[in-house]
Amino acid sequence: MPTSPRGSRIAGIGHYCPERVLTNFDLERIVETSDEWIVTRTGIRERRIAADGEAASDLALAASRIALNDAGIEAEELDGIILATVTSDMQFPATACIVQDQLGAKNAVAYDLNAACSGFIYGLSNAHALICSGQMSRVLVIGVEVLSKFVDWQDRATCVLFGDGAGAVVVEACEPGKGILGTYMKSDGSLADLLQIPAGGSRMPLSKDSYERRDHFIKMKGDGVFKYAVRAMVDATMKVLERTGMALDDIDFFIPHQANMRILDAIAKRLGLPQEKVVINLERFGNTSSATIPIAFDEIVKAGKVNEGDIVLLVAFGGGLTWGSVLLRHTG
Ligand code: ACO
Repeated sequence: MPTSPRGSRIAGIGHYCPERVLTNFDLERIVETSDEWIVTRTGIRERRIAADGEAASDLALAASRIALNDAGIEAEELDGIILATVTSDMQFPATACIVQDQLGAKNAVAYDLNAACSGFIYGLSNAHALICSGQMSRVLVIGVEVLSKFVDWQDRATCVLFGDGAGAVVVEACEPGKGILGTYMKSDGSLADLLQIPAGGSRMPLSKDSYERRDHFIKMKGDGVFKYAVRAMVDATMKVLERTGMALDDIDFFIPHQANMRILDAIAKRLGLPQEKVVINLERFGNTSSATIPIAFDEIVKAGKVNEGDIVLLVAFGGGLTWGSVLLRHTG
């Protein structure tokens, strides 16, 4: 039941992925792997890779322009820009500020948010809270990653998993009970070592030693990630349903973070969700971290599959560890 005098809804959505496609067969020429291994273990067939010189803000800007156009609003009308990423243009300033300037969103407060693959869910939850509390009326939420510049192209266990892309939504105030119905966020920092980039921060500044150990690239304990990903996304799904008084059967579209086909299969099986309700596009994009959910959502919206009133559940899990979910009624 809504408790706030106002709610929020997604008024516009867009995504952008770089043009360059890297297939599993291309990867066979880079590391010792095979299309067969990658497809069987992950479901991924190809991913998009940013061009030299193409940064997170470039992808974010392209996706944001599409979302603003879709919402039919000008950049000056935005009160906030929340940009979720772990692959920012630089340590600071925030990539959100760079996007703000390029969009000409001069009335917006702009900041970055780091929740790894859960970043878009955290961003959407933040935007919803800011709008419901009356502090803002229109917020642009972006999930963007250029992971190709942070993966170790000599590590076959990780480089085959990730891709680059951006998705963005315009969230605006509406009557309570329409649009976003509920959100849920959770973290467990005791499991931070499952997925991280150890070097380049204040704990381990980049040095010749860290560079030679390749510690400035993504390190992952794949089996641990797998175990917690399933558990956490099932938990986040059930929690947001409880908070909103809805049931699994009410869901029309289930859009999980696109990490790995086997993770998605395990979640759908545990929840007993029919395959046709689970949105999957990871075979074409790989894992684009905070961008996977808005990219997948935009694809089904633009394909005309989502109708006004449909119930959509977004759920993610990522490094931190972080996980969370958003339940919404599509407002068209
Ligand atoms: N090609 C060929 N062989 C490979 C590759 C590869 N790309 N990568 C690893 N192998 C080898 C390993 O070296 C190992 O060989 P060995 O037995 O000779 O030592 C063998 O394959 C099995 O390795 P495992 O790590 O046990 O493979 P597993 O079946 O566990 O699959 C995977 C690995 C796909 C990473 C799995 O652990 C997984 O899906 N984990 C989830 C991780 C994930 O999705 N992370 C995404 C980021 S996190 C997020 O988005 C939330």
